[in-house]
Amino acid sequence: MSTDPISTASPAESQPNANTRKVFIKTYGCQMNVYDSIRMGDALASEGYAPTEEMEEADLILLNTCHIREKAADKVYSALGRLRDMKKARTAQGQELMIGVAGCVAQAEGEEILRREPSVDVVIGPQTYHRLPAALRRAREGDRVVDTDYAVEDKFEHLPMAEKAQVRARGVSAFLTVQEGCDKFCTFCVVPYTRGSEVSRPLRQILDEAQRLVDSGVREVTLLGQNVNAWRATGPDGREWGLGDLLYRLAEIPGLARLRYTTSHPRDMDDRLIQAHRDLRTLMPYLHLPVQSGSDRILRAMNRRHTAEEYLRLIARIRSVKPDMAMSGDFIVGFPGETDADFEDTLQIVEAVNYAQAFSFKYSTRPGTPGADLPDQIPEEVKAERLERLQSLLLKQQAAFAKSCVGKVIDLLLEKPGRMPGQIIGRSPWLQSVNVDAKPSQIGDIIPVRIIGTGPNSLFAEPVGP
Ligand code: 5AD
Ligand code: SF4
Repeated sequence: MSTDPISTASPAESQPNANTRKVFIKTYGCQMNVYDSIRMGDALASEGYAPTEEMEEADLILLNTCHIREKAADKVYSALGRLRDMKKARTAQGQELMIGVAGCVAQAEGEEILRREPSVDVVIGPQTYHRLPAALRRAREGDRVVDTDYAVEDKFEHLPMAEKAQVRARGVSAFLTVQEGCDKFCTFCVVPYTRGSEVSRPLRQILDEAQRLVDSGVREVTLLGQNVNAWRATGPDGREWGLGDLLYRLAEIPGLARLRYTTSHPRDMDDRLIQAHRDLRTLMPYLHLPVQSGSDRILRAMNRRHTAEEYLRLIARIRSVKPDMAMSGDFIVGFPGETDADFEDTLQIVEAVNYAQAFSFKYSTRPGTPGADLPDQIPEEVKAERLERLQSLLLKQQAAFAKSCVGKVIDLLLEKPGRMPGQIIGRSPWLQSVNVDAKPSQIGDIIPVRIIGTGPNSLFAEPVGP
């Protein structure tokens, strides 16, 4: 999953009455955290908490945190510092303000958060957020609660689904977690430690949730997993199903117009999944497939368990069944021991793939991961210089991809009102934001449009047809 620094407040969905408590959830990190925040919000709604977008009017502030890189955790601690002052001011007025920390920093730091930040009432890990209401009840009685166990029970079985109206208010595109955790143990990565080992949600649960989303007006579903293409479950035919089989099955749901999935590992891109890209019109031609480095030596040190050549061959196979597949990736520069020649290999693989979109990061030492103990850590200024070169190449490719869309007629899923009156923002099959003149009543429709121009972060289009 991409962990570009999304930082979003969960949307308010209903008008609470004056007596309800209000919760403000701030989400850091990847799309799975966005999904988790929504599910925590739903769990809190059944406890009488209404969502708010105004931090100042909240009785509970919940930070859903990310631990993937260093700055992510630093940001959480500085946010908590600011909240401490807010809580002091509230307490002085005799008012309640509870502060909770959820997500991967909660999992990794646990008790340490309570030690560093006396104002925090609840620390809850990603595998226990179904127990958040209970933790809050205890906290209100005066306890400070840390719950970061890897729960034995399935949290999804214990979480309420939102009302249809609430789901509808969230828009026509939704996330659905199908898999969590990771057994790959890339040597730079904390995920196997914060999210635990790979777990797949059962087929029935996924189908029910997808159906429920569609019944509530959702047109596009993005399946989420740290290693989404490692999803496995027993199918109704008794066979073991993989992500490809799941996509074929989901594509049968009437009204579910678009499917996506993220994030994939190259080792788990099996034939059935590639076939699904060939056969399913609803499966969008956009694939986030991180490679991290173009150097075999570094790939080995990262424990990625494939070579640059194998990655390129895989993409060639995918493009042979789906020629318009837009590729996206993640890159790390400055992994311990990375030489100039290794970095040149990364630039070369980027040239060879030609990405439509990509995320690139300086290597950040994560305590407890094998990478942290490697000799030959790379100086910050070398990392910065490499990142700049890589990003300028990736940006050039991204701009070229956007330009190549001009003049094309594409299907646009109309998602939300645009900034200008009379405009709607839609999503292209390749995940680009596209502005077009349309009516709010058309939100949820998929209409043909012609791309007529490009902006810094979006495209412009005009409707075509009658
Ligand atoms: N340092 C820098 N980038 C990292 N990522 C994961 N761990 C680290 C780290 N320690 C990046 C990888 C991954 C993405 C989600 O975040 O590129 O694919
Ligand atoms: Fe981290 Fe590697 Fe697992 Fe991705 S595959 S979550 S980078 S350990």
